[in-house]
Amino acid sequence: MNRNKIIVIAGMAVFVLLAVAAVRPSLQQERNLKVLPKDISDQKLDSIMETYNKALGVKCEFCHVKKKIFPGDMDYAADTEPMKEEARKMMRMTIDINKNNFWYNKSDQPEYLKTVTCKTCHRGEPFPEGH
Ligand code: HEC
Ligand code: HEC
Repeated sequence: MNRNKIIVIAGMAVFVLLAVAAVRPSLQQERNLKVLPKDISDQKLDSIMETYNKALGVKCEFCHVKKKIFPGDMDYAADTEPMKEEARKMMRMTIDINKNNFWYNKSDQPEYLKTVTCKTCHRGEPFPEGH
């Protein structure tokens, strides 16, 4: 092999590595968020989901399903479990209650207000009685 060939091959290898690095972040699955802000951090999302578990006295499986191919993993982005869409209605309702009825700092995002939360009504039950 002559020197020029080696240089060309090395150059191509570098190009391929850079291309893979550039594409990689977009290979990460996009989130399926219809209520929460799209720029939410993983930590914030996790802590909000934990509050749902506590407020309703349920596990993540109450609203989320397992992956079909790898049943050991959860498919959090899937909308297969109808309870997830019910929860979205509740999220919108709770955001509206806070936004429209209580004072809040207008620089805060309404999705993150906590004057009224799931726990205010649910108190550890998935189906609280209305009386
Ligand atoms: C009461 C129902 C409910 C429970 C319980 C719940 N979630 Fe969720 N979860 C939702 C809803 C609704 C969304 C979608 C929010 C939206 O559309 O903005 C969501 C979204 C998510 C997402 C984002 C998925 C994506 O699109 O990338 C993750 C991750 C997640 N939940 C993890 C969890 C974990 C972990 C638990 C248990 C600790 C949990 N959830 C418990 C209702 C629930
Ligand atoms: C203003 C009170 C109130 C708030 C706030 C509230 N819920 Fe509910 N939720 C209820 C009541 C009452 C029921 C029971 C309805 C029934 O039995 O038909 C319920 C039922 C549900 C159900 C069962 C499905 C359904 O529609 O009956 C889910 C899931 C749920 N809530 C999730 C949440 C989540 C998540 C939050 C916070 C984002 C939340 N709720 C906030 C009052 C509330």
